[in-house]
Parts: sequence; structure tokens; C-alpha cells
Amino acid sequence: MEHLFEKLVRNGESDTYPCHMPGHKRNVWGDLPPQLCRMDITEIEGFDNLHQPEGILLELQKKAAVLCGAEESFYLVNGSTGGILTAVSAALPEGGHILMARNCHRSAYHAAYLRNLKISYLYPDILDEYNILEAVTPDQVRAALKKAPDIGAVLVVSPTYEGRIADIAAISEAVHEKGIPLIVDEAHGAHLGLSREVHENSCRQGADLVIQSVHKTLPALTQTALLHVNGKLADRELVKRFLHIYQSSSPSYLLMASIDNALHYIEKDGGRAFGEFRKQYDRMLERLSQCRVLRFLPADRERQDLGKLLISVKDAEMTGRQLYDTLLNSYRIQTEMAAEDFVLAMFTINDRPEGYERMTAALLEIDGSLRGCKSPEDRKKQGNVFQGWLWPENPDAGGCTLTAAWDGNKEEVSLEESEGRLAGEFVNLYPPGIPLLVPGEKITKELCQRIHNWLQQGLTVQGVRLQEGEHLIQVLKMAEEQVCGSACVCEGL
Ligand SMILES: Cc1ncc(COP(=O)(O)O)c(C=O)c1O
Repeated sequence: MEHLFEKLVRNGESDTYPCHMPGHKRNVWGDLPPQLCRMDITEIEGFDNLHQPEGILLELQKKAAVLCGAEESFYLVNGSTGGILTAVSAALPEGGHILMARNCHRSAYHAAYLRNLKISYLYPDILDEYNILEAVTPDQVRAALKKAPDIGAVLVVSPTYEGRIADIAAISEAVHEKGIPLIVDEAHGAHLGLSREVHENSCRQGADLVIQSVHKTLPALTQTALLHVNGKLADRELVKRFLHIYQSSSPSYLLMASIDNALHYIEKDGGRAFGEFRKQYDRMLERLSQCRVLRFLPADRERQDLGKLLISVKDAEMTGRQLYDTLLNSYRIQTEMAAEDFVLAMFTINDRPEGYERMTAALLEIDGSLRGCKSPEDRKKQGNVFQGWLWPENPDAGGCTLTAAWDGNKEEVSLEESEGRLAGEFVNLYPPGIPLLVPGEKITKELCQRIHNWLQQGLTVQGVRLQEGEHLIQVLKMAEEQVCGSACVCEGL
């Protein structure tokens, strides 16, 4: 079968004159690499149309479905973000009731906003030893579904940003007993199910709608993703409708070719590549087990994904941000993110031995320079006294829908003054972009403290603005709070 990348190369070299978009006309312009322009086309003859695929794009999507064990797959060109917006919008009617994990990416919240959904949350446990969120469990899902019989769809994240994998087979069973669809945000798991070295993917465990960012864990360009559909519980016509709505009418062929290229690479060389990946990664973890102070989350095949190197500084006299900076400034290693207690580094099948070697050497050296354990007193002094995410225990305190709250009248107040008020804007630690506060939720003292700590540690907090030395946050106006309070629709389960 023909591959999109090769077809684009051939087209770029042909003498067919481009009297069509894009405006660069396949000519070198500015500093862009010439090959990029030559291959960047729009829906010209022979290249099919992603919004009505009948030729090469249909074939490629079918191939993706076979590889991933899905009944039907769709190429996405604006990341898992577009897939999550689509899946949630298609799975529930306007005003429907969704049960979703509280650690969902903000795109899930955006979908709930657009469809004016009532939201019930599943609160993941905390893996105390590393201070990270666990994936949600089948028992949590069952209990929540029992409590709210009008729930129309369930959305969970697996693997999580930190690599925790949920028992999707058991969750699917629980959700299907209710006759409703399960959506899995598998943005961090496009590699799952492609080799015995990694965990099975959610398509093969019964999920109805699965979204994967190809760009996150496979060798593909940023923004590439897949949406897989299985079974009869998801309305496929609605899925297509929302894909048309949320995706560009001019999807980039470079991005689509990059999805094809990544999947083709797996087909051709996946066995060797994953085998090597597992070997190198395990070896790095084994060498790092010599560390005295730094700790690493083991990749246990069942519940922790391969490739997410979680470096815990919980016992070290340094913060996650300090380790992140040290790795970057002293060792020129750019990691994925820093949190209070850990740094997350990512490895994939496309890492070279140099990457493992440099990371191992750097961490062994840093560990050698660290002094003993951080006492509880030290942790307190550092202000690092809170465990987990500290979501509002009772998010229905405000009682308004996300849509009502986000659209409501707001004012900006200082972080200190915001205590007891209802949030008017999302507050996220970025990455990973999981909201700490959702519009309409009550801002507690602990939450303020938590945001304050994050800011003090130099972490990126979205939704808080610095003005003349003061941190400002948006809250609902008092009158708005009363309106919201009368329409109690957010529930924590
Ligand atoms: C859990 C999760 N879901 C979805 C997304 C969105 O993915 P994308 O960047 O491909 O749009 C992210 C992005 O970081 C994520 O962490």
C-alpha cells in the first residue's frame, strides 16, 4: 500500500504547477526547510479528504484501526484535545450527565462546558510514596454509577500523565452493565498494545471511544492523534459530526503523513524497537537503584507504563523544580515537567543510548551530592506540607454547572482574598494541565496555600496573574454566586 509520506515527496518533486493553496506554492520561503514547503499540500487530486475519506486517507485510517485493535479509527490533526472534545460531545446529549475522573485533561472540561454537562467526579487515590495520582479503579466507577443512575457516559484517563494504568477491562464491564459508553483518554498511551513489552491498550479491553496522542509517545509530529471507536454504544454519525466541527477544514498533510509514518515504522520495526526500549529502560532503572536519596517509580508492566521516569525528591533536600533546573542547567537534560515532589522524564522507542546514559550519569552524580533524608520539619519549612492535589472535598459547595460558572460575571481578587469565593476561571498546574480549580468550585484555604506554594517553587500555574507583586485570581461576583448556589448540579462521588 502507498504511504502518504512517499506520495507527498513524489508530488513535491513533480512538475504539476500548484495553482491552489497553501500560499507558499511549494516554494522556499523565509527560513522554512525547502522540503517542508514542497510536501505541504491541501486536498488536491489523488490525496483524498479527511472530512470525507474515500481513498488513501480511508485506507490509512483502516490500517490504523487494525494495528490498534479498533473497529474504526480517525486521524486527528489537533491532538487528543480534538478527540476528547469529539468523544465527549458525541457520547452525551446537551445537558447530559458525565462521570469523569477529576484528573482529566482540561479538554474534557472544555467539552463539558460546550455541551453544558452536569459533571460527577471520580477522585483518584494518591500514591503516597510518590505523591502522585493513581488511575481510577473499577470499584470507584461501580460505586459512582450506583449513586447516580442518570449518568450517560464515563471518562477516565489511562495511562495518567505519570504513567499509572487503569484496569480498563474491569471498568468497561462496570460501565457496560449500565448500557453506557466508556471513553478512555489514552493520550499518553498511543504505544500501548503495539508490543508485548508494554501494556494492552484500551480498545482491546472494551472501551468504546479511545483517544491517543500519537505525538506524545510515538515518533510523530506534535498535534498528531487518533480517535478509535468500538461497539454500538457510541453514535458514529455524531462522532463524525463533531470531528467536522472541532477539526480544521484544512488538515495538514504533513501531520497526517507523520501518523502514517509512525504506525508504518511500528509495523516494520516495532518488535525490535520495543524490545530495545524495554532493555535500555530497565537497565537505566537498575543502575539508578544505587541512588541513596532519589527514588524511581518501577515500570511494573501491569500498572506503571514503560518510559515515564518519575524521579522522586520526596526524601531529598531539594524540590522538584530544583532538580528540574539542575538537570537542565548543569547537565543539559530537558525533562517533561517538575512538580513539588518529583520530576518526570519521558523515554520512548526513539531514544538513543546516549539519552539513557546521560540521564543515568546525571542522576547518579546528583544523588551522590545530596545529603540524607528530608525530615518532616524540613518539609514543613519548605512549605511542602500538602499531600496530593487537594481538590475541594465538596465540589458541589458552589453548586453551579461549569458552563454557568465560566460564563458568569467575574471579578479579580488577590489570592488571599479569594478564600471562600467561587472560582471564575480554571487554575491548572502546567504541565500537565489538570485543573486544580474548576469554575464554580469553592476556593478553600488549603487550595490557596497550595497555589501559593506552587508559585513560590517557580512552577507554572495557569489562571493566576501577577500584577505589581500580587497574585490575582478570578472569582464569581457575589451576586453570581447566589445564582449558581441555587442550581446545584456538580457532585463529587
Ligand atoms: C491526559 C491528557 N489528555 C489529553 C491531552 C491533550 O493532548 P494533545 O496535546 O495531544 O491535544 C493531554 C496533554 O497533555 C493530556 O495530558
